[in-house]
Amino acid sequence: MHLYTDVGSLQSHIKPFRAAGNKIGFVPTMGALHAGHLSLIAQALQDCDLVVSSIYVNPTQFNNPHDLIHYPRTISTDSQLLESVKCDILFLPDDQVMYPDKSRLKFDFGYLETTMEGKYRPGHFNGVAIVVSKLLHMVNPNIAYFGQKDLQQFTVIRQLVKDLSFPVQLVCCPIIREKDGLAMSSRNMRLTTEHRAIAPALYHTLQMAREWALEMSVEAVRHAVTAHLAITPQIQLEYFEMVDSYTLQAVEDITLYEKVSLCIAAYLGGIRLIDNVFLYPVTRVY
Ligand code: PAF
Repeated sequence: MHLYTDVGSLQSHIKPFRAAGNKIGFVPTMGALHAGHLSLIAQALQDCDLVVSSIYVNPTQFNNPHDLIHYPRTISTDSQLLESVKCDILFLPDDQVMYPDKSRLKFDFGYLETTMEGKYRPGHFNGVAIVVSKLLHMVNPNIAYFGQKDLQQFTVIRQLVKDLSFPVQLVCCPIIREKDGLAMSSRNMRLTTEHRAIAPALYHTLQMAREWALEMSVEAVRHAVTAHLAITPQIQLEYFEMVDSYTLQAVEDITLYEKVSLCIAAYLGGIRLIDNVFLYPVTRVY
């Protein structure tokens, strides 16, 4: 695996591959890699001739400075993992490369950034859009891969790519779960043993909500989810929403929509966890 920290060297490596008509796959990450990230790399390796992954903990997408400071940084393990799965290139820029000057860019994604995550993490999607735009310019991939766990992020990036005509195809890969159902996330490693044992309750609640949704109104499902999670005082529910998987508009009658997602966010011992499931199982949304 080749490691580059500057854009010039990265682009010099990629250029002849692209010129020869090869397909470039890109998996942007913030590190602390787990099987979820590796599934994106595996998909990229299957689809593309050259796979680039980046690791950069992007400060502009953290609305909470405490979260930024404590975000896990495990570069040497990450780099070994990427090497072991045969990722071709690791791009490891620092703040000077990504933000030589303070970025003052302001995106407006309208409803896409004011609902769910956007409501509780002001500025988050602006930071994501800035860094993803920069990375797409630097790597210029044919296909970029993201995880379904960040469904709203994917929706925002899809809008960004469309609005700014980035010549890239986007792929959203399914959530990878631990054996007990907990969605894999870099933040899981910050859970205490007690909270880690409780954390799968989020996924189990989503599974129950999926059943309830077939028999109850959306409002009743919302109440049932809130009541169910209230049994576990360590979990502080932030939101539970049933939304159209493409527009993220809240759904009031599930029969009117083709693809509905059930999305949840909650704090567990100060760690913020998110998860989602499709109402009807599908392997790929996009
Ligand atoms: O999903 C992530 O890991 C990050 O939000 C991303 C897309 C790498 C941008 O920093």
